[in-house]
Amino acid sequence: MSDERTGPEAPQSDHLLDHAYDGIQEYDNPLPRWWLALFWITIVFTPLYILYFHFGGGMLPNERYDQEMIAFYDRQAEELLAMGEIREATLAELMADPSMMNGGKKIFQGKCATCHGMFGEGGIGPNLTDEHWLHGPQLMDIYRTVRDGVTDKGMLAWERQLRPAELMAVSAYAGSLLGSQPPNTKPPQGERAPRAAPEAVAPAPAAEPEPPATEAAPAAS
Ligand code: HEC
Repeated sequence: MSDERTGPEAPQSDHLLDHAYDGIQEYDNPLPRWWLALFWITIVFTPLYILYFHFGGGMLPNERYDQEMIAFYDRQAEELLAMGEIREATLAELMADPSMMNGGKKIFQGKCATCHGMFGEGGIGPNLTDEHWLHGPQLMDIYRTVRDGVTDKGMLAWERQLRPAELMAVSAYAGSLLGSQPPNTKPPQGERAPRAAPEAVAPAPAAEPEPPATEAAPAAS
């Protein structure tokens, strides 16, 4: 077989390989320049991508997602705070939310376990898994203790260290440890007080109502 293309557009460098399968032969022509350029660009791009996104300042999609979720929960928590809406039922809802409990557990193990034990069994701080409480059994009691601390007894006021959403998540997580019976529990401290269901707990007093908006009188025409 021979190259049948003729005229000015016929490639000059067509080189026919010397094998044939079922009568089919092939050219050994150079790849198009644009194709080779793409090939080299991807080779140069890959290590730059890996260095920047895996080891440098770049954020991978899952990291960006986590950040957006935290920002979302923060906005929600701030709205709840602004409305005076953090109450027993709010925290009980968080306790039923697995992703919140995962976040709460991470914070607990990072910030609280040194004193309360990895599983809340107690250590420097009291056992959080039994029915005995120094500052009350309700989720709101726990939330207040964690937020304001008992600074003269060594329990920090975490409001200054944690964002609003983190504060709520870790309080709900600490509340979820009740009755979990980990090994090596610290002996009970405080009063024995069973926890009441959220419905039985009076909600916190509502925030001050907004002053009525003074509407501008419609302009006389
Ligand atoms: C430096 C040690 C320390 C760290 C860290 C710490 N706590 Fe405490 N915590 C204590 C001590 C001590 C008490 C007891 C305070 C008292 O005697 O009134 C306490 C009390 C508590 C109580 C009240 C328990 C009860 O019986 O009423 C809760 C709930 C609690 N801590 C949760 C947390 C959470 C959640 C964190 C992490 C964000 C945390 N603590 C971090 C030392 C600590």
